[in-house]
Amino acid sequence: MSFKTTPELSKIKKRLSKSRKAIVLNNEKGGVGKSTLSYYIAKLLERLGLKVLVWDTDPQGNFTKSINGAEISQSYINDNGVISSADVFKAELPSGKTYRVSDNLHLLAGTDELYNVDEEMGRESLGHAHRNIQTLLEQGDFDVVVIDTPPVLGNRQLAATLISDYLLMPIEIDGFSLDGINKQITRVVNIREQVNLPLPQITIVPNRVDMRSRSSKDGLEAIYKASPVTVSPVIKSNTAIKDAIRTFTPVWEYKASSSKAAREMLFAAISVALR
Ligand SMILES: Nc1ncnc2c1ncn2[C@@H]1O[C@H](COP(=O)(O)OP(=O)(O)OP(=O)(O)O)[C@@H](O)[C@H]1O
Ligand SMILES: [Mg+2]
Repeated sequence: MSFKTTPELSKIKKRLSKSRKAIVLNNEKGGVGKSTLSYYIAKLLERLGLKVLVWDTDPQGNFTKSINGAEISQSYINDNGVISSADVFKAELPSGKTYRVSDNLHLLAGTDELYNVDEEMGRESLGHAHRNIQTLLEQGDFDVVVIDTPPVLGNRQLAATLISDYLLMPIEIDGFSLDGINKQITRVVNIREQVNLPLPQITIVPNRVDMRSRSSKDGLEAIYKASPVTVSPVIKSNTAIKDAIRTFTPVWEYKASSSKAAREMLFAAISVALR
């Protein structure tokens, strides 16, 4: 499998270059593909030549592990003057460096310290996060930040939705997915209005779709018809999407019979979401 850019991806590169925009993967429902899509978007933007900061706000650290090839411990962060994911929520951003995965990919790693953010920090931490992310983007001359969120409501999820310029909501298709996602979209609209921020570009991304199932087909039809926001092309359930990540390799560098289909589906969905 190899990497082939497309006219849409070239436009995305141009649009995001020096933009300092935030791309957020969000859905309070668990297991819908937030971390998986965060990984592929970050690796794709890096591959296109952009300088990417990734912010893992989930202490499960799935995004961190896939991007770095291994977990990063809290003690490593403390001992090496590395800025952690939880540091971003503090009033004063500690001095230090972002963790370097490669020249064009740096990471704010998801660690256990993040559990405290919801328990101990107040709503003022949302404003701190917004400001600190902009500071980090400017200091490191990053083009964009990709933010993965946890499947729980709280300050971490809220901060990410407030910061987002592009909000991608992966969903699994079932009878109730449209109701759930509509509620979340309404909440984002209300929150952004309260603080006088324009709406992000919101895209629903149907993921892990099984096209052989009648209920998936019906569910999809309903979503394309009734969704209040853009719905991207479907990403089907695909073994390469899942297996490639386990070897810390994006599908466009992964040898498997389903890699080509995986690459095409991912590029099509991402091209619409980052339009
Ligand atoms: N298109 C796909 N095809 C096959 N497997 C997929 C696909 N997308 C995601 N998966 C798999 O589904 C599982 C859940 O995905 P992922 O961890 O990205 O979800 P999540 O929304 O981040 O979950 P959580 O809410 O727990 O953080 C993973 O095992 C992942 O490999
Ligand atoms: Mg996740």
